[in-house]
Amino acid sequence: MFGRLLSFEPDATGVTVKFEHKEGRISFITDRIVRVYSSMEEKHRPSRAVVQEPKKVDFQARQQKEFITIKTKKLLVRVRDEFQVDFLTPDGRMISEQSVRSDNTQTITKEQAELLAKEGHSLPKEKEAHKFEVVRMLHPKEHIYGLGDKTGFLDKRGYAYEMWNSDIPDTHADFFPSLYKSVPFFISMRPHFTYGIFLDNTSKSYFDMGKEDADSYYFAADGGDLDYYFIAGETMRDIVGAYTGLTGRTALPQKWTLGYHQSRWGYITEDDIMDVAEKMRQCRIPCDSIHFDIDYMDAFKVFTWNRKNYKDPKKTLQKLTEMGYKPVTIIDPGVKKEDGYDVYEEGIKNGYFAFSAENELYVNEVWPGDAVFPSFTNPKVRSWWADKQKFLIDMGVRGVWNDMNEPASFKGPLPDDVQFADEDDTVILHKDAHNIYGHCMAMATKEGWLKYDGRRPFIITRAAYAGTQRYSMFWTGDNQSIWAHLQMAIPQLCNLGLSGFSYAGTDVGGFGADTTKELLARWVQVGCLSPFFRNHSAQGTRRQEPWQFDKELLEIYRKYVELRYHLLPYIYDCFFESEQTGLPIMRPLMLNFEKDAETYEINDEFMVGEWLIAAPVVTQGTTMRLVYLPEGAMWYDFWTGEKYKGGQYITKKAPLDTMPLFVRAGAVLPLYPLMQYVGEKEVEDLTLAVYPGIGNYIHYQDDGESFAYKKGGYNAYVFSQNNGRLQIKDAVKNYEKPYKGFYVKICRDGVTALSDVSGEYLKHEE
Ligand code: GLC
Repeated sequence: MFGRLLSFEPDATGVTVKFEHKEGRISFITDRIVRVYSSMEEKHRPSRAVVQEPKKVDFQARQQKEFITIKTKKLLVRVRDEFQVDFLTPDGRMISEQSVRSDNTQTITKEQAELLAKEGHSLPKEKEAHKFEVVRMLHPKEHIYGLGDKTGFLDKRGYAYEMWNSDIPDTHADFFPSLYKSVPFFISMRPHFTYGIFLDNTSKSYFDMGKEDADSYYFAADGGDLDYYFIAGETMRDIVGAYTGLTGRTALPQKWTLGYHQSRWGYITEDDIMDVAEKMRQCRIPCDSIHFDIDYMDAFKVFTWNRKNYKDPKKTLQKLTEMGYKPVTIIDPGVKKEDGYDVYEEGIKNGYFAFSAENELYVNEVWPGDAVFPSFTNPKVRSWWADKQKFLIDMGVRGVWNDMNEPASFKGPLPDDVQFADEDDTVILHKDAHNIYGHCMAMATKEGWLKYDGRRPFIITRAAYAGTQRYSMFWTGDNQSIWAHLQMAIPQLCNLGLSGFSYAGTDVGGFGADTTKELLARWVQVGCLSPFFRNHSAQGTRRQEPWQFDKELLEIYRKYVELRYHLLPYIYDCFFESEQTGLPIMRPLMLNFEKDAETYEINDEFMVGEWLIAAPVVTQGTTMRLVYLPEGAMWYDFWTGEKYKGGQYITKKAPLDTMPLFVRAGAVLPLYPLMQYVGEKEVEDLTLAVYPGIGNYIHYQDDGESFAYKKGGYNAYVFSQNNGRLQIKDAVKNYEKPYKGFYVKICRDGVTALSDVSGEYLKHEE
């Protein structure tokens, strides 16, 4: 496509390379982030993902015989014929080499195809003709992580995926090419090297990570420009940090959003909601939010409230608020096509909805029946949608759950040529707008909440693109109440975290199909340590609120929700740090223990921040499991205080009420006293669970809601310990309600963070 390399021209930010047929460009964002670009479209669209301005990077470009080299302090880029690009260390060791496609696509005869079709098997796919492809060599020991919310396991090697936001209610299986989100970013880890690649392309793209050919992978797209970033680093943490520097980081959320959320599609009336709210308090299950699914609306019309089932919605929300709940409502993008409905009429008058190729209003069907689709890709439409949020905020709603924004449609997919209004009022076709539709809807929603609520916005979205973490947090959509989906929850949330989406969760208990007591017990154990903790299920399935089974389940459920509430300050600290570093809250073990190869494919354990390892049971009937404890640290059993050396597998009993949980020696875990919801009482004294070893820990304290922390309005405490001897220092003292004191518990065999001993009391010195 590019032909032979002819010449090159350096300028201040990079090098333009001339080939026989086209030009390519290598430029630098930092000395370890390189952008590889070639224009393939008439019009260049500004990135929706990248927010980092390029830094001034020193480089030298030279023409060698068959290639040119461009060298920074951290990286050597080698460009060859056909715009093949290799990345090496400055001293010439290969990190990633471009290759050519070796095609092992299976073909079958017509007769074989007919036979397959008879029993309803799916046929092998035709070979796709991509607009461009980049093929790179796979090292025998290379592992691939990231790629957003894809199904399957942590290591993506050997699987092929597509980036095309998809609402597929069938049971999500390992072979699914795509789900709701498109994050065209992955991290490769191979002996001695770790790197990341981000393909900034919003059209349909493909990531074959060694399925077609075991020795190479490729990424490709059907439209848009060739535009990818190569990120070199020493460690995975460097890559995640650099990628989130490029595309933005998850901001610190309001603290209550980290509490427990209860939801169900099927709380139809005011009484249904109030029953759940009351039962939760009676059963003493801490809970911060109840979610209103589509039924709260009038005929599924967005920004309306159903007055048949709610006499006085404002009053209902007021009652919930008095009980400590923060109501969250769902909002879908599809606007009911109905004369006289204000949202529809306003959009029509201003030309805010998408048009067909024939320039007629584009109509498809969603929950309200015939519906039209706002052009969220346009700033005027976003501002209008932002203003619509006021309806919810005035009602007393505290957060918005954006759903169906792939966009989902019941009468077949939107045709590729449906026209949306772009950022600059020109047209952007559905094929290019599809993967950023949810991204732009989240952007609009955030704009409204900043304007009318003013606190840190709480927005959930199902569909997303790279960088959506700047506007929203995420849930993984319609999973099922099956063990395979509990298993999948761990790698899926870990890979989302590595892809910049630090704040995400799955539907605890499973959304579709009927949960069981055992599955729900095991799911709440995973959910209580997931960044977002919400039980949600579909209408018509077995109910799965904590009290729906028996006393034993209720007690197990309570134990883990209470664990979450005790750990809230720890989880909040992880979020505070995530905003600074981009590192996720929920992490695969290898992110913290990259030198320990044993961690590379662990799918059934995860870390929360730096200090906790959860090893939940995710298979039916299991009451004992192997736990791998990474090398280079000592570990304490959270429940018993027993101590273990890292670098070994241990067996742990895990009856239904036990999720094996370990704390790294050296930890000082901050713990809250039990509360039924965030804000129930002022936390004056913090408990510190000290796990003897060597360690430093920074704890943040602020008002939990406002943006004051951005201007330094917080307290930071440094807890340092040397084998149980604790020192507390105030590093920042700007929040007006510092703790009065600390209960210090030295955890060891028999004494645990949650045991009844209150610990030594240390007064906080002012
Ligand atoms: C979609 C959502 C689900 C929601 C349902 C009804 O399936 O993924 O969470 O309950 O729509 O709104």
